[in-house]
Formats: sequence, C-alpha cells, structure tokens
Amino acid sequence: MPNEPHAIVRASDTTAETCEIGAEGLSVSRMLGPEHGAVHLAAATSRLGAGGEVPGHEHPFEESFFMLSGRAVATIADVSYELGEGDFGFAPLGVPHAWSNPFGEAAEWLRVRAPVPRTDGRTASSRIVAGFEAATSGPTVDPKAPHQRFVGHFDDSQVPPPGPIVMPGYRGYGINNVSIRMMVDEFIGAEHHTLFIVQFEPAEVFSAREHFHPFEELYYFTHGAADGIVGGEPCRVEAGDLVFAGVNTTHGFTNAGDVPVRWIEAQAPKPTARHGTLFVHDWPAESPTG
Ligand SMILES: [Fe+2]
Repeated sequence: MPNEPHAIVRASDTTAETCEIGAEGLSVSRMLGPEHGAVHLAAATSRLGAGGEVPGHEHPFEESFFMLSGRAVATIADVSYELGEGDFGFAPLGVPHAWSNPFGEAAEWLRVRAPVPRTDGRTASSRIVAGFEAATSGPTVDPKAPHQRFVGHFDDSQVPPPGPIVMPGYRGYGINNVSIRMMVDEFIGAEHHTLFIVQFEPAEVFSAREHFHPFEELYYFTHGAADGIVGGEPCRVEAGDLVFAGVNTTHGFTNAGDVPVRWIEAQAPKPTARHGTLFVHDWPAESPTG
C-alpha cells in the first residue's frame, strides 16, 4: 500500500460499459474506484442516449451529479426536473431516483458516490425500487428558487472573485488566487461528501501550495490546464482528466495557461471545521529520516 495513494485518469484510459440494474441506453465510464486506492469516493461519467432510461433504484451511498452536456429528466424521491448543462444535484442515501432522456441527443454527467460502494457482493450496491417510475418531463432548475430540493445550477456568472481560500477545514493564503462555488454539501442534504467548483486564475507561482488532508479528494477538470504535483510527482492535467488524491497524499496545483483552469472537486469524508488542510511547508521534516 503506497503511503500517498493517488491516480491520474485520462478520459482515454476509461472504457464505457453498459450496465446496470436494467437501464436502457446508459453507458458508464469508471474514472475512480477501489482499483485506484480510493476508500471513500467513487466517480464515473455517465452517458444516457436519446430515448434511454434508468429505472427507479436506491443504494447504500450518496450520489451527486453535474450535467456536462445534453438534457435529461431526473426524478428524485417525489420531485422531477429537466436538467441541462451546468445543473447539478444529489440523491441521498436510500432515496429512490430514476433518469430518462426523452430528448433527441445523449446526455452526459459526472457522477460521484460516497461512502465508496462495497464490492464483495455480500450486500446490494444498487437495487430496483418496484413501481418507482422515471418521469419524462419536469420543470427546469431555477437558480433563484429558494425551496428547490436536491438540485441547483451553476454558470460562469456565479464564479466569485479570486482570493485566499475560505473552506471548511482551512481559511488562508496557502491556497490563493482561487474561486470556490459550493454545490453539494449539508445545505442540500449531503452527509458523506461535498461537490464544488474550483477555478484558478493564471498565475506565475503555485496557487495551491503542496498540502494534504485527512480525507480523499478528486478533481475532474472541465476548462484549461494545470501543472500539478501529486504524491511528489509532477503532472500536466487538462479538461477531461481526473486526479485522485487519497488521505495524506501531498498535492498542489497552479494554472498552466493564460485562461482560467476549472475543475469539479469532491471530498469525502466531509472536512472538519479546523485542521482539514495541512501544508508541507508548515511541517518540514527535521532531517531526511525525521
Ligand atoms: Fe487539497
């Protein structure tokens, strides 16, 4: 077991698999799971073809999603929404949900699960909920509606001005030049993970200095490119790539281009209020063996 579990998964590394639980027209490309050393998070991109449907089901983990392209209808508990690019949402643990795509083109979304699904077959990972129908229409997501359950919307107008990070676990200048827009957390009902947008402006120096956490993180890049150092190894990552940093894995990033770099980030378990981010420069080894 490496003491800095991490992975860089390119979209071209993944294979779309048809699955699951009687879905029609659904293909899933796994991007993160136990095979990468993850013990809290799993992630994939899901593609639901025109006319496709995922029947009503429930599972013993939370699932959040971010719409990357196309449109689909999600039904979660007793509400349904027509979702499009930039919409996000969340199905709580044990709450039935279903998808349909009555539109003329495929829909694609990023899917994040936590706690990590069990894989030994002794317990169900997903199960059909008999009689729970996938709706084929619903209202679109209204970013200003105060009482919408399970969903929200993100677009460029919501990127806050860059500055030092303010997050559960850490506030300060060790991560600077950053804009954060929270999407899935306890406010929407998530107990086990968070999902949020991170954007870094172009910069000459590392904007997120090397640090580590007592939780796992994943970063799914959607815009621009970044130079990272993950588990002590330099890397260049860009849109479509996913980076995984396990518990205590050191990592840092800076923008590698002259346009903003943006990713969708997830953390699990959720950070503590304090001491969730620890910096390498604050804890230098006293000697090479120290
Ligand atoms: Fe981090």
